[in-house]
Parts: sequence; structure tokens; C-alpha cells
Amino acid sequence: PTNKRDPASNQLQEWYSRNKYKIGHITSESGVAVPNQTSSITVGKYGPIVLADFNLIEQLGHFNRERIPERVVHAKGAGAFGYFQVTHDISQYTVSKVFEFIGKRTPIAVRFSQVAGNLGSADTVRDVRGFAVKFYTEEGIWDLVGNNTPIFFVRDPILFPMFIRTQKRNPVTNLRDWDMFWDFLTLRPESVHQTMILFSDRGIPDGHRHQHGYGSHTFSLIGKDRKLTWCKFVFKTNQGIRNLDPQKANELAGTDPDYALRDLYNSIEDGKKTDDFPSWTMYIQVMTTDQAKKQPFNPFDITKVWPHKDFPLIEVGQMVLNQNPSNYFSDVEQVAFNVNNLTPGIGPSPDRLLQGRLWAYQDTHRYRLGVNYEQLPVNNSLNKVSNFQRDGKSAFNNQGGAPNWYPNSFGGPSVDLQAISWTPPPEEIHGTQDYHDLGDDDNFSQARVFWNKVLDEGAKTRLVANLAGTLKIANEEIRDRAVEMFTKVDQSMGKRLKAALVEEVTVNL
Ligand code: NDP
Ligand code: HEM
Repeated sequence: PTNKRDPASNQLQEWYSRNKYKIGHITSESGVAVPNQTSSITVGKYGPIVLADFNLIEQLGHFNRERIPERVVHAKGAGAFGYFQVTHDISQYTVSKVFEFIGKRTPIAVRFSQVAGNLGSADTVRDVRGFAVKFYTEEGIWDLVGNNTPIFFVRDPILFPMFIRTQKRNPVTNLRDWDMFWDFLTLRPESVHQTMILFSDRGIPDGHRHQHGYGSHTFSLIGKDRKLTWCKFVFKTNQGIRNLDPQKANELAGTDPDYALRDLYNSIEDGKKTDDFPSWTMYIQVMTTDQAKKQPFNPFDITKVWPHKDFPLIEVGQMVLNQNPSNYFSDVEQVAFNVNNLTPGIGPSPDRLLQGRLWAYQDTHRYRLGVNYEQLPVNNSLNKVSNFQRDGKSAFNNQGGAPNWYPNSFGGPSVDLQAISWTPPPEEIHGTQDYHDLGDDDNFSQARVFWNKVLDEGAKTRLVANLAGTLKIANEEIRDRAVEMFTKVDQSMGKRLKAALVEEVTVNL
């Protein structure tokens, strides 16, 4: 009967059939055999437990420490492994070994996530999805830590913690609070474009396989002779876009809150039988430094896309997920993506939000996983790590007897003089040091294109209904501000939203 069950339901049975002849003895953490696993050591049958029962103490002590802090955002997620393979040559733009030649394969780890909810929250909520890819390259780790949306809500990192708090719980009631949620979004109109994408059909993807992924920020590619080209990374799903109807999503949140996690696991196990794995096609968009100076919009503003007709998608390769985690905690909970993990040939850009993120991830990992988080197996680089950092909690790779100072005359690692050729070209930058607030920097024109050119009539109706669904619960002042904001996108959108806000609709909290 077990072979009728889906692979996720059958995981234990399957593990047992592979391991039943290898089962060994229980040991303590130090490897000593344990004689009894059902009873503590007591003085007499009904007497107290003795302190010398080290096995009991070790187990209770370990249990008390089994949870680590969940990610402050993107806590709930699913992970998998696979590879990225180049199908089209882009070596004219970058010296990156990942894109070295057609056919080149690089192993990857991927984690998909929801942003706002806690570790046990439902997968089928309306939320942005994280789309993080770790490339284990021969030149170190490259992490592309993106979302399923090409843009973001805010363009300055100082607003990120504020924005996130409004998407989480009210400090008194500990409930999601639609006043908080809509207050921030309507006070910061740069969020309007992303808010429209979030409340459109694609705001609730049908699992992780049926969504696109975007690096979202503008990055740089460094080619031969340190030639710099600005770049966006895009992954388009080969499974096709599929979204969940909000009603169905709500039902699933109750009946199968781990819907997306289960779907990814099963699709990879099923793929092993049919050689048909979840996959995405990677594209880049490129912009020369001269083009960047002439755009009518700021190409380094994450609330904006680069229009396809001006910056067409250039196909690069295939991302295939063909391996499930062998252990969720080790492979998914401990995976740590760093926006600053960029390998030769790929670099950052002046995008303000990206600049903030270049610092934030290392810091959060040191808190969540400890200072030596990059020594955890899933985060290990394929090539040898040699530097002068030592010690700290859980130092697995403490680099033996090598010198821990630089410069030294005892054979410690030396600087790679070649590495300068992968760094961006020298650039003179002038400017006044000040608070340059970009809050009003063309917030509506691309949102207007999204409304007028991308959404058909049905999609517009659903977007307005979805917005009204929770906006209805916000206070009157916030609702009025929302109508005003969406009227600036398009008169007709404002009108339709105003009408929807007085209609009787079922509110899905
Ligand atoms: P295009 O017509 O070339 O592109 C429209 C894009 O919108 C396509 O990539 C399409 O994805 C995507 N799309 C369709 N429905 C949704 C949705 N509900 N949520 C998010 N994306 C969706 O036009 P432009 O490049 O000129 O862009 C026009 C507008 O499209 C932009 O202002 C922006 O709002 C939106 N957009 C643009 C993207 C870009 O990188 N240029 C990327 C995503 C959205 P698909 O390929 O699956 O059809
Ligand atoms: C996770 C901070 C913007 C994508 C996180 C985490 C933090 C964080 C602290 C938790 C990491 C962990 O514990 O492992 C920030 C800050 C931002 C920002 C400060 C802005 C200044 C963005 C943007 C995107 C993004 C714009 C996408 C384009 C992700 C993803 C994860 C994540 C995908 C989950 C990674 C994983 O799966 O482990 N972010 N973030 N973040 N962030 Fe951001």
C-alpha cells in the first residue's frame, strides 16, 4: 500500500528500505554505547533520579537548545539542490566562471520562502516569495538572494525594518493588523508598484514551482579589461505561471499549510522517476554605463523594472532542482545566503537598497547561526577557504597551524594580484554628503503601465477586489489615502477601488 502514497508521505518507509541492514547502536554525543533508552536511572523502583544519569541529562539539555532563532523575515521556506547549466554564451559581458562556456554546470542550493509569516505559518498566503540561489562555484560562493517579484516596496534600506514591522504582528494584540499594514504603504507611495503586483493574481503562487524569480536589484557584470555592464537576473519558470484563487488558498491554509513545501518535495522525488525536474530558464537584461546615464528613470531604483522592449531578455541557461534536502535542518534551516557573496565577474551597483543588503545578511547570520556559519556544510565553499579569521563558537575549520596575521613571513596565504582584474573599473564619484530623500522619485509611471498595459479586464477586477479585501478593515483615513494613491496610478483604478470599498465582500484575514 505504501507505493500509492506520495513521496513526502513515504519518506520514512523509503529511508528504512535503504538503511535497514545498516542500523547500529545508540550512542551518547561522545560516541559511547547507551544501555537503556526507556528509563532514567533511579534509586529504587519508585525513588528519585540520580545526577549521574548523564544520558538523561545530555538528552534533556540538548532538547532545551534544539531551536535556533527563526529568520527575522522569510522564516517559512522550502529548499532543494540541483545545478545551473549554461546554454547561451554571455562571456562578452562577464569573466565569471559560472558562465565560462556553453554546457558548464555549477551546483546550486535554492530556498523559496514567504516573507512575513513565522516558521510554522501557511504557505498559501498572499505575500512576496523569496527566491534565493546559492551557486557553489570554483571561485567561491555566489548568492543571488532575490524574490518572485522584479521590484520591491521601498528604495532606501532605512525604511526596510519599518516596512517589515507593519507586515508582521501588532505589538499589543500580536495579530496581523491592517491599519499597520496599509498605513505604511499609503504613506510611502514608492511602494505602490510592488503593492499592485502583490495584490494581483501572482501574489499567491500555486506552490514554488510555478513562479518566476528575479535578482530584482541591478548588479554589475565585469568583463575582460574590467569592462562594466549593468545587469538584471531573471529566472522564468518552465512549469508555467500558476496562481491560487484566494478562496482556494484560504482553504489550503487550513487543510495543508505546508502545501508549497510538500509540492516541491514531491515534484523532485517524482522527477527522479521521469527525469522531469522543476526547472527555470535564466535570462539577463543588460544596460551599458552610457545607456544608464540617459534613462528617463533611475536604473538603480529597485521599485522600477527595466522595460523589456528597451532591455530585452537574453537567455543564459537552465536551473534544475533534482535533489531534496537529506536533512531539513542542516540543509534548509542552516543555509545562509549573503547578498555580498559575489564571485569574480559579478558585482554590486549603486542601488541603495542593495547597498544596505550587502551588509545586513552577514550580520543576521552571525546572530542566528553563529560567527562561523560559513563553516556549516551547506554553506561551505567548494574551494579552500584561507584567511586570518580564527576561533569563535563551533570553529570546524580553524586552519590548523597557518599564521593568523598578515603580513607574515611564515607562508600564510597571499593576495591574488590577478583579482584586481575582476573588480569594477576605477570611477570618480562626486556629490554632497547629505540626506538625499528619494521618496518622490517617479512613483507612479511604471505602476500605471502595469495597470494599463499588463493587466486585462479580469485581472484588474481581481486586483481591486484583493486590495479592497483587507483595506476595508483599515480605518477611514487610511482607506481615503489608499484611494488617493491608487487614483494617482490611474483615475479609473481609484474609482473602482472606492466603489469596491463600500461593497459587501467577504474579508479573508
Ligand atoms: P512587457 O509586456 O514586456 O512585460 C510585462 C511583464 O509583466 C512580463 O514579464 C509578465 O510576465 C509580467 N506580468 C504579467 N502579469 C504580472 C503580474 N500580475 N505580476 C507581475 N508581473 C506580471 O512590458 P514591460 O517590460 O514594458 O513592463 C511593463 C510593466 O510590466 C512594468 O511596468 C511592470 O509593472 C511589469 N513587469 C515588467 C517586468 C520587466 O522586467 N520589464 C517584469 C515583471 C513585470 P510573463 O513573462 O510571465 O508574461
Ligand atoms: C532574508 C534583511 C531586502 C530577499 C532576509 C533576512 C534578513 C533580511 C535579516 C534573514 C536572513 C536569514 O536569517 O537567513 C533585508 C534587508 C533588506 C532586505 C535589511 C533591505 C534593506 C530584500 C530584498 C529581497 C530580499 C529587496 C529580494 C529582492 C530575501 C530572501 C531572504 C531574505 C530571499 C531569505 C533567504 C533564505 O531563503 O534564507 N533579509 N532584506 N530581501 N531576504 Fe532580505
